[in-house]
Amino acid sequence: MTTLVVRNSEIDGSAAVPGDKSISHRALMLGAAAEGTTTIRNLGPGDDVSSTIACLEAYGVAVRRTGTEAEIRSGGIRSWNAPSRALDCGNSGTTLRILTGFAAHHTFGTTLDGDASLRRRPMDRLVAPLGALGARVQTTAGRPPVLVEGGGLSGADVQLAIASAQVKSATIFAALGASGTTSVTEPSASRDHTERMLNALGAQITRDGLRVVVEPFDPPAFEIDVPGDPSSAAFLVAAGILAGRVHLEGVCLNPTRIEFLVSLARMGASVRWETDDDNMGEPVGTIDVERSGLTGIGIEGPLVPAVLDELPLIAVLATQASGTTTVAGATELRAKETDRIAAMVTALRQLGAEVEELPDGFIVTGPTPLIGTKVSAEGDHRIAMALAVAGLAAQGETLVEGYEAAAVSWPAFEQVLATLGGEVELR
Ligand code: S3P
Repeated sequence: MTTLVVRNSEIDGSAAVPGDKSISHRALMLGAAAEGTTTIRNLGPGDDVSSTIACLEAYGVAVRRTGTEAEIRSGGIRSWNAPSRALDCGNSGTTLRILTGFAAHHTFGTTLDGDASLRRRPMDRLVAPLGALGARVQTTAGRPPVLVEGGGLSGADVQLAIASAQVKSATIFAALGASGTTSVTEPSASRDHTERMLNALGAQITRDGLRVVVEPFDPPAFEIDVPGDPSSAAFLVAAGILAGRVHLEGVCLNPTRIEFLVSLARMGASVRWETDDDNMGEPVGTIDVERSGLTGIGIEGPLVPAVLDELPLIAVLATQASGTTTVAGATELRAKETDRIAAMVTALRQLGAEVEELPDGFIVTGPTPLIGTKVSAEGDHRIAMALAVAGLAAQGETLVEGYEAAAVSWPAFEQVLATLGGEVELR
Protein backbone atom coordinates (compact mmCIF):
# COMPACT_ATOMS: atom_id res chain seq x y z
CA MET A 1 0.00 0.00 0.00
CA THR A 2 1.26 3.49 -0.90
CA THR A 3 0.73 6.55 1.27
CA LEU A 4 0.79 10.04 -0.20
CA VAL A 5 2.10 12.62 2.23
CA VAL A 6 0.71 16.08 1.45
CA ARG A 7 1.86 19.25 3.22
CA ASN A 8 0.05 22.54 3.42
CA SER A 9 1.35 24.30 0.29
CA GLU A 10 0.70 26.80 -2.49
CA ILE A 11 0.20 25.81 -6.10
CA ASP A 12 0.50 27.98 -9.18
CA GLY A 13 0.89 27.23 -12.87
CA SER A 14 -0.38 25.50 -16.01
CA ALA A 15 -0.94 21.78 -16.39
CA ALA A 16 -2.16 19.27 -18.92
CA VAL A 17 -4.88 16.85 -17.83
CA PRO A 18 -5.10 13.27 -19.14
CA GLY A 19 -7.41 12.29 -21.98
CA ASP A 20 -11.05 11.86 -20.97
CA LYS A 21 -11.78 8.42 -19.55
CA SER A 22 -15.40 8.24 -20.74
CA ILE A 23 -14.46 9.26 -24.29
CA SER A 24 -11.47 6.87 -24.28
CA HIS A 25 -13.66 3.84 -23.42
CA ARG A 26 -16.18 4.76 -26.11
CA ALA A 27 -13.54 5.43 -28.78
CA LEU A 28 -11.84 2.09 -28.06
CA MET A 29 -15.09 0.13 -28.25
CA LEU A 30 -16.35 1.90 -31.39
CA GLY A 31 -12.93 1.47 -33.00
CA ALA A 32 -13.07 -2.26 -32.22
CA ALA A 33 -16.59 -2.45 -33.68
CA ALA A 34 -15.48 -0.71 -36.90
CA GLU A 35 -13.89 -2.48 -39.82
CA GLY A 36 -10.42 -1.07 -40.53
CA THR A 37 -7.78 0.81 -38.55
CA THR A 38 -8.76 3.34 -35.89
CA THR A 39 -6.21 5.66 -34.27
CA ILE A 40 -6.80 7.17 -30.85
CA ARG A 41 -4.42 9.82 -29.51
CA ASN A 42 -4.27 11.22 -25.96
CA LEU A 43 -5.97 8.12 -24.63
CA GLY A 44 -6.74 8.23 -20.89
CA PRO A 45 -3.69 6.77 -19.09
CA GLY A 46 -5.49 5.03 -16.22
CA ASP A 47 -5.94 1.37 -15.38
CA ASP A 48 -9.65 1.53 -16.33
CA VAL A 49 -8.79 2.29 -19.95
CA SER A 50 -6.28 -0.61 -19.94
CA SER A 51 -9.14 -2.85 -18.75
CA THR A 52 -11.20 -1.91 -21.81
CA ILE A 53 -8.24 -2.66 -24.11
CA ALA A 54 -7.71 -6.07 -22.47
CA CYS A 55 -11.42 -6.94 -22.91
CA LEU A 56 -11.36 -5.99 -26.60
CA GLU A 57 -8.21 -8.09 -27.09
CA ALA A 58 -10.05 -11.02 -25.48
CA TYR A 59 -12.55 -10.73 -28.37
CA GLY A 60 -9.63 -11.06 -30.80
CA VAL A 61 -9.38 -7.38 -31.70
CA ALA A 62 -5.77 -6.20 -32.26
CA VAL A 63 -4.87 -3.14 -30.18
CA ARG A 64 -1.37 -1.66 -30.32
CA ARG A 65 -0.77 0.86 -27.59
CA THR A 66 2.26 3.14 -27.55
CA GLY A 67 2.13 5.54 -24.61
CA THR A 68 -1.13 7.46 -24.93
CA GLU A 69 -1.73 6.39 -28.54
CA ALA A 70 -3.66 3.29 -29.56
CA GLU A 71 -4.10 1.74 -32.99
CA ILE A 72 -6.99 -0.68 -33.32
CA ARG A 73 -7.22 -3.12 -36.23
CA SER A 74 -10.53 -4.89 -36.49
CA GLY A 75 -12.56 -6.80 -39.02
CA GLY A 76 -15.66 -5.14 -37.53
CA ILE A 77 -18.05 -6.22 -34.79
CA ARG A 78 -19.07 -9.36 -36.71
CA SER A 79 -15.46 -10.58 -36.65
CA TRP A 80 -15.27 -10.64 -32.82
CA ASN A 81 -14.54 -14.14 -31.45
CA ALA A 82 -16.12 -15.75 -28.42
CA PRO A 83 -13.75 -14.98 -25.52
CA SER A 84 -12.18 -18.11 -24.07
CA ARG A 85 -12.78 -16.95 -20.48
CA ALA A 86 -14.58 -14.27 -18.47
CA LEU A 87 -13.58 -10.72 -19.42
CA ASP A 88 -11.71 -8.99 -16.59
CA CYS A 89 -13.00 -5.42 -16.34
CA GLY A 90 -10.77 -4.75 -13.32
CA ASN A 91 -12.10 -1.79 -11.33
CA SER A 92 -13.94 -0.30 -14.31
CA GLY A 93 -17.73 -0.10 -14.09
CA THR A 94 -17.80 1.80 -17.38
CA THR A 95 -15.96 -1.02 -19.18
CA LEU A 96 -18.29 -3.67 -17.86
CA ARG A 97 -21.56 -1.80 -18.33
CA ILE A 98 -20.94 -0.23 -21.74
CA LEU A 99 -19.34 -3.29 -23.26
CA THR A 100 -22.51 -5.31 -22.59
CA GLY A 101 -24.05 -3.29 -25.45
CA PHE A 102 -21.61 -4.79 -27.97
CA ALA A 103 -21.63 -8.20 -26.24
CA ALA A 104 -25.38 -8.22 -26.98
CA HIS A 105 -24.69 -8.27 -30.74
CA HIS A 106 -23.41 -11.83 -30.44
CA THR A 107 -25.16 -15.15 -30.08
CA PHE A 108 -22.14 -16.47 -28.16
CA GLY A 109 -22.18 -15.70 -24.47
CA THR A 110 -19.83 -13.14 -22.86
CA THR A 111 -19.13 -13.23 -19.13
CA LEU A 112 -17.96 -9.92 -17.70
CA ASP A 113 -16.29 -9.80 -14.29
CA GLY A 114 -14.06 -7.52 -12.27
CA ASP A 115 -12.17 -6.90 -9.03
CA ALA A 116 -13.62 -7.09 -5.52
CA SER A 117 -14.92 -3.50 -5.69
CA LEU A 118 -16.60 -4.01 -9.08
CA ARG A 119 -18.14 -7.27 -7.81
CA ARG A 120 -20.02 -5.20 -5.22
CA ARG A 121 -21.57 -2.82 -7.77
CA PRO A 122 -25.13 -3.02 -9.13
CA MET A 123 -25.55 -4.53 -12.60
CA ASP A 124 -29.27 -5.39 -12.52
CA ARG A 125 -29.90 -2.01 -14.17
CA LEU A 126 -28.68 -3.53 -17.46
CA VAL A 127 -31.20 -6.38 -17.53
CA ALA A 128 -34.40 -4.56 -18.60
CA PRO A 129 -32.94 -2.14 -21.21
CA LEU A 130 -30.91 -4.80 -23.04
CA GLY A 131 -33.71 -7.32 -22.49
CA ALA A 132 -36.13 -4.97 -24.29
CA LEU A 133 -33.97 -5.32 -27.42
CA GLY A 134 -33.95 -9.12 -27.07
CA ALA A 135 -30.64 -9.77 -25.27
CA ARG A 136 -30.39 -11.99 -22.19
CA VAL A 137 -28.45 -10.51 -19.28
CA GLN A 138 -27.89 -12.67 -16.25
CA THR A 139 -26.28 -11.15 -13.14
CA THR A 140 -25.00 -12.83 -10.00
CA ALA A 141 -27.55 -11.63 -7.42
CA GLY A 142 -27.58 -8.26 -9.21
CA ARG A 143 -23.77 -7.97 -9.42
CA PRO A 144 -20.86 -9.27 -11.54
CA PRO A 145 -20.11 -11.72 -12.99
CA VAL A 146 -22.64 -10.82 -15.69
CA LEU A 147 -23.46 -13.14 -18.61
CA VAL A 148 -24.71 -11.53 -21.84
CA GLU A 149 -26.12 -13.46 -24.80
CA GLY A 150 -27.73 -11.75 -27.76
CA GLY A 151 -27.90 -11.62 -31.53
CA GLY A 152 -31.09 -11.07 -33.55
CA LEU A 153 -31.87 -7.87 -31.62
CA SER A 154 -34.90 -5.71 -32.48
CA GLY A 155 -35.30 -1.98 -31.84
CA ALA A 156 -37.49 -1.00 -28.89
CA ASP A 157 -38.60 2.00 -26.84
CA VAL A 158 -36.57 1.86 -23.65
CA GLN A 159 -37.29 3.89 -20.54
CA LEU A 160 -34.34 3.98 -18.12
CA ALA A 161 -35.14 3.86 -14.40
CA ILE A 162 -32.00 5.82 -13.42
CA ALA A 163 -29.94 8.52 -15.11
CA SER A 164 -26.88 6.51 -16.11
CA ALA A 165 -24.70 7.29 -19.11
CA GLN A 166 -23.27 3.80 -18.86
CA VAL A 167 -26.65 2.07 -19.17
CA LYS A 168 -27.78 4.55 -21.83
CA SER A 169 -24.58 3.88 -23.81
CA ALA A 170 -24.92 0.10 -23.48
CA THR A 171 -28.46 0.36 -24.86
CA ILE A 172 -27.34 2.61 -27.73
CA PHE A 173 -24.43 0.30 -28.61
CA ALA A 174 -26.80 -2.69 -28.65
CA ALA A 175 -29.26 -0.69 -30.79
CA LEU A 176 -26.59 -0.20 -33.47
CA GLY A 177 -26.89 -3.92 -34.24
CA ALA A 178 -30.68 -4.21 -33.88
CA SER A 179 -33.22 -4.23 -36.69
CA GLY A 180 -35.41 -1.12 -36.59
CA THR A 181 -35.38 2.03 -34.51
CA THR A 182 -34.57 2.23 -30.79
CA SER A 183 -35.38 5.08 -28.44
CA VAL A 184 -33.82 5.51 -25.00
CA THR A 185 -35.39 7.93 -22.53
CA GLU A 186 -33.51 8.87 -19.36
CA PRO A 187 -35.10 10.36 -16.23
CA SER A 188 -32.60 13.25 -16.26
CA ALA A 189 -29.68 14.16 -18.49
CA SER A 190 -26.48 12.11 -18.17
CA ARG A 191 -23.24 12.63 -20.13
CA ASP A 192 -23.80 12.37 -23.88
CA HIS A 193 -20.38 11.41 -25.31
CA THR A 194 -21.76 8.29 -26.99
CA GLU A 195 -24.38 10.30 -28.85
CA ARG A 196 -21.86 12.97 -29.91
CA MET A 197 -19.27 10.45 -31.10
CA LEU A 198 -21.80 8.44 -33.10
CA ASN A 199 -23.18 11.61 -34.60
CA ALA A 200 -19.65 12.66 -35.66
CA LEU A 201 -19.18 9.20 -37.25
CA GLY A 202 -22.31 9.66 -39.35
CA ALA A 203 -24.87 7.62 -37.39
CA GLN A 204 -28.51 8.60 -37.44
CA ILE A 205 -28.91 9.57 -33.82
CA THR A 206 -31.14 12.38 -32.64
CA ARG A 207 -32.12 13.83 -29.29
CA ASP A 208 -35.46 15.25 -28.29
CA GLY A 209 -35.30 16.41 -24.68
CA LEU A 210 -34.42 13.34 -22.61
CA ARG A 211 -35.16 10.92 -25.48
CA VAL A 212 -32.44 9.67 -27.82
CA VAL A 213 -33.49 7.93 -31.05
CA VAL A 214 -30.96 5.70 -32.79
CA GLU A 215 -30.99 3.72 -36.03
CA PRO A 216 -28.90 0.60 -36.78
CA PHE A 217 -25.37 1.60 -37.85
CA ASP A 218 -21.99 0.06 -38.70
CA PRO A 219 -19.39 2.53 -37.38
CA PRO A 220 -16.54 3.35 -39.77
CA ALA A 221 -12.88 3.36 -38.64
CA PHE A 222 -11.79 6.82 -37.48
CA GLU A 223 -9.10 8.98 -35.88
CA ILE A 224 -9.59 10.94 -32.68
CA ASP A 225 -7.59 13.16 -30.33
CA VAL A 226 -9.25 12.61 -26.96
CA PRO A 227 -9.81 15.94 -25.18
CA GLY A 228 -8.71 16.41 -21.54
CA ASP A 229 -10.88 14.85 -18.84
CA PRO A 230 -12.99 17.47 -17.02
CA SER A 231 -13.39 15.12 -14.02
CA SER A 232 -9.58 14.90 -13.73
CA ALA A 233 -9.27 18.66 -14.32
CA ALA A 234 -11.67 19.09 -11.39
CA PHE A 235 -8.97 18.02 -8.89
CA LEU A 236 -6.62 20.75 -10.10
CA VAL A 237 -9.48 23.25 -10.26
CA ALA A 238 -10.29 22.54 -6.61
CA ALA A 239 -6.58 22.71 -5.73
CA GLY A 240 -6.34 26.13 -7.40
CA ILE A 241 -9.34 27.47 -5.50
CA LEU A 242 -8.02 26.24 -2.16
CA ALA A 243 -4.32 26.78 -2.61
CA GLY A 244 -3.35 29.25 -5.34
CA ARG A 245 -3.95 29.46 -9.07
CA VAL A 246 -4.22 27.05 -12.03
CA HIS A 247 -4.56 27.35 -15.82
CA LEU A 248 -5.69 24.29 -17.82
CA GLU A 249 -5.90 23.84 -21.58
CA GLY A 250 -7.49 21.31 -23.91
CA VAL A 251 -10.20 20.27 -21.45
CA CYS A 252 -13.47 18.76 -22.69
CA LEU A 253 -16.17 21.34 -21.85
CA ASN A 254 -19.17 19.25 -22.88
CA PRO A 255 -22.22 20.87 -21.20
CA THR A 256 -23.09 17.52 -19.54
CA ARG A 257 -19.67 17.53 -17.80
CA ILE A 258 -19.25 21.12 -16.51
CA GLU A 259 -21.82 21.21 -13.72
CA PHE A 260 -18.88 21.18 -11.27
CA LEU A 261 -17.61 24.47 -12.73
CA VAL A 262 -21.15 25.89 -12.67
CA SER A 263 -21.50 24.83 -9.01
CA LEU A 264 -18.19 26.51 -8.15
CA ALA A 265 -19.36 29.73 -9.78
CA ARG A 266 -22.52 29.48 -7.64
CA MET A 267 -20.29 29.12 -4.58
CA GLY A 268 -18.63 32.40 -5.55
CA ALA A 269 -15.35 30.91 -6.79
CA SER A 270 -13.17 32.78 -9.24
CA VAL A 271 -13.45 30.29 -12.11
CA ARG A 272 -13.56 30.98 -15.86
CA TRP A 273 -13.88 28.54 -18.73
CA GLU A 274 -13.89 29.20 -22.45
CA THR A 275 -14.44 26.92 -25.44
CA ASP A 276 -11.92 27.43 -28.24
CA ASP A 277 -12.24 24.21 -30.28
CA ASP A 278 -14.59 21.46 -31.41
CA ASN A 279 -13.31 17.89 -31.43
CA MET A 280 -15.64 15.24 -32.91
CA GLY A 281 -18.63 17.14 -31.57
CA GLU A 282 -17.03 17.81 -28.16
CA PRO A 283 -16.40 21.43 -27.14
CA VAL A 284 -12.83 21.84 -25.84
CA GLY A 285 -11.20 24.80 -24.11
CA THR A 286 -9.44 26.40 -21.15
CA ILE A 287 -10.18 26.69 -17.44
CA ASP A 288 -8.68 29.35 -15.14
CA VAL A 289 -9.15 29.40 -11.37
CA GLU A 290 -7.64 31.18 -8.41
CA ARG A 291 -7.97 31.16 -4.67
CA SER A 292 -11.42 32.40 -3.71
CA GLY A 293 -13.74 32.82 -0.77
CA LEU A 294 -16.68 30.40 -1.04
CA THR A 295 -20.29 30.28 0.14
CA GLY A 296 -22.28 27.09 0.73
CA ILE A 297 -24.83 25.95 -1.87
CA GLY A 298 -27.44 23.20 -2.35
CA ILE A 299 -27.08 20.48 -5.00
CA GLU A 300 -30.00 18.15 -5.62
CA GLY A 301 -32.46 16.86 -8.22
CA PRO A 302 -31.44 16.77 -11.89
CA LEU A 303 -28.15 18.58 -11.10
CA VAL A 304 -26.83 15.53 -9.24
CA PRO A 305 -26.04 13.16 -12.17
CA ALA A 306 -24.21 16.01 -13.94
CA VAL A 307 -21.80 16.57 -11.01
CA LEU A 308 -21.80 13.08 -9.44
CA ASP A 309 -18.12 12.26 -10.02
CA GLU A 310 -17.08 15.64 -8.58
CA LEU A 311 -19.18 15.49 -5.38
CA PRO A 312 -16.20 14.32 -3.25
CA LEU A 313 -14.47 17.57 -4.28
CA ILE A 314 -17.60 19.61 -3.55
CA ALA A 315 -17.44 18.13 -0.03
CA VAL A 316 -13.78 19.19 0.34
CA LEU A 317 -14.46 22.73 -0.94
CA ALA A 318 -17.57 23.02 1.26
CA THR A 319 -15.38 22.70 4.38
CA GLN A 320 -13.85 26.05 3.39
CA ALA A 321 -17.14 27.71 2.37
CA SER A 322 -19.14 29.87 4.75
CA GLY A 323 -22.53 28.46 5.64
CA THR A 324 -23.91 25.04 4.78
CA THR A 325 -23.54 23.01 1.61
CA THR A 326 -26.21 20.36 1.19
CA VAL A 327 -25.99 17.53 -1.32
CA ALA A 328 -29.12 15.36 -1.53
CA GLY A 329 -30.58 12.85 -3.98
CA ALA A 330 -27.12 11.35 -4.55
CA THR A 331 -27.71 7.74 -3.41
CA GLU A 332 -25.81 6.62 -6.56
CA LEU A 333 -22.67 7.94 -4.87
CA ARG A 334 -22.87 4.96 -2.53
CA ALA A 335 -22.67 2.55 -5.50
CA LYS A 336 -19.42 3.87 -6.99
CA GLU A 337 -15.93 2.32 -6.64
CA THR A 338 -16.57 2.69 -2.90
CA ASP A 339 -19.40 4.24 -0.88
CA ARG A 340 -18.22 7.77 -1.60
CA ILE A 341 -20.62 9.38 0.89
CA ALA A 342 -19.30 7.29 3.79
CA ALA A 343 -15.66 7.64 2.65
CA MET A 344 -15.77 11.45 2.43
CA VAL A 345 -17.80 11.94 5.62
CA THR A 346 -15.30 9.80 7.56
CA ALA A 347 -12.16 11.39 6.11
CA LEU A 348 -13.34 14.99 6.34
CA ARG A 349 -14.40 14.50 9.98
CA GLN A 350 -10.94 13.07 10.71
CA LEU A 351 -9.49 16.24 9.18
CA GLY A 352 -11.64 18.35 11.54
CA ALA A 353 -14.57 19.31 9.28
CA GLU A 354 -18.19 19.54 10.39
CA VAL A 355 -20.07 17.04 8.25
CA GLU A 356 -23.45 15.37 8.65
CA GLU A 357 -24.11 12.15 6.76
CA LEU A 358 -27.48 11.81 4.97
CA PRO A 359 -28.79 8.56 3.44
CA ASP A 360 -28.54 10.23 0.02
CA GLY A 361 -25.84 12.86 0.51
CA PHE A 362 -24.20 15.08 3.12
CA ILE A 363 -24.34 18.48 4.80
CA VAL A 364 -21.07 20.33 5.37
CA THR A 365 -20.94 23.43 7.57
CA GLY A 366 -17.98 25.72 7.16
CA PRO A 367 -15.58 27.22 7.18
CA THR A 368 -13.53 25.01 9.50
CA PRO A 369 -9.75 24.73 9.50
CA LEU A 370 -8.55 21.31 8.32
CA ILE A 371 -5.81 19.68 10.36
CA GLY A 372 -3.63 17.10 8.66
CA THR A 373 -3.95 13.50 9.82
CA LYS A 374 -4.11 9.96 8.46
CA VAL A 375 -7.06 9.33 6.06
CA SER A 376 -7.97 6.47 3.73
CA ALA A 377 -8.61 6.44 -0.05
CA GLU A 378 -10.86 3.38 0.50
CA GLY A 379 -9.59 1.85 -2.76
CA ASP A 380 -11.23 4.64 -4.80
CA HIS A 381 -9.30 6.85 -7.24
CA ARG A 382 -11.51 9.90 -6.82
CA ILE A 383 -11.38 9.70 -3.01
CA ALA A 384 -7.56 9.36 -3.16
CA MET A 385 -7.17 12.51 -5.26
CA ALA A 386 -9.88 14.52 -3.43
CA LEU A 387 -8.08 13.85 -0.14
CA ALA A 388 -4.74 14.83 -1.67
CA VAL A 389 -6.33 18.17 -2.60
CA ALA A 390 -7.76 18.54 0.92
CA GLY A 391 -4.21 17.94 2.21
CA LEU A 392 -2.92 21.03 0.38
CA ALA A 393 -5.31 23.17 2.44
CA ALA A 394 -4.87 21.29 5.74
CA GLN A 395 -2.42 22.40 8.41
CA GLY A 396 0.64 20.20 8.79
CA GLU A 397 0.82 16.81 7.10
CA THR A 398 -2.02 14.76 5.63
CA LEU A 399 -1.33 11.08 4.94
CA VAL A 400 -3.57 9.57 2.24
CA GLU A 401 -3.36 5.82 2.76
CA GLY A 402 -4.08 3.57 -0.23
CA TYR A 403 -3.18 6.43 -2.57
CA GLU A 404 -2.23 3.92 -5.32
CA ALA A 405 -5.96 3.80 -6.21
CA ALA A 406 -5.44 7.11 -8.08
CA ALA A 407 -3.87 5.10 -10.93
CA VAL A 408 -7.34 3.96 -11.99
CA SER A 409 -7.80 7.31 -13.74
CA TRP A 410 -4.62 9.40 -13.24
CA PRO A 411 -1.41 7.48 -12.50
CA ALA A 412 0.84 10.58 -12.20
CA PHE A 413 -1.52 12.95 -10.42
CA GLU A 414 0.83 13.58 -7.50
CA GLN A 415 3.64 14.47 -9.92
CA VAL A 416 1.45 17.12 -11.53
CA LEU A 417 0.64 18.55 -8.08
CA ALA A 418 4.38 18.63 -7.33
CA THR A 419 5.13 20.43 -10.63
CA LEU A 420 2.60 23.10 -9.64
CA GLY A 421 4.38 23.57 -6.30
CA GLY A 422 2.43 21.15 -4.11
CA GLU A 423 4.54 19.56 -1.37
CA VAL A 424 3.79 15.88 -1.86
CA GLU A 425 5.79 12.73 -1.32
CA LEU A 426 5.03 9.04 -1.89
CA ARG A 427 5.86 6.76 1.02
C1 S3P B 1 -19.62 7.28 -16.88
C2 S3P B 1 -20.88 7.53 -16.39
C3 S3P B 1 -21.16 7.84 -14.98
C4 S3P B 1 -19.89 8.25 -14.25
C5 S3P B 1 -18.75 7.32 -14.52
C6 S3P B 1 -18.43 7.30 -16.02
C7 S3P B 1 -19.48 6.99 -18.31
O1 S3P B 1 -21.68 6.69 -14.31
O2 S3P B 1 -20.16 8.32 -12.86
O3 S3P B 1 -17.59 7.72 -13.82
O4 S3P B 1 -18.35 7.00 -18.85
O5 S3P B 1 -20.50 6.76 -18.98
P1 S3P B 1 -23.24 6.28 -14.40
O6 S3P B 1 -23.53 5.84 -15.79
O7 S3P B 1 -23.37 5.16 -13.41
O8 S3P B 1 -24.00 7.49 -14.00
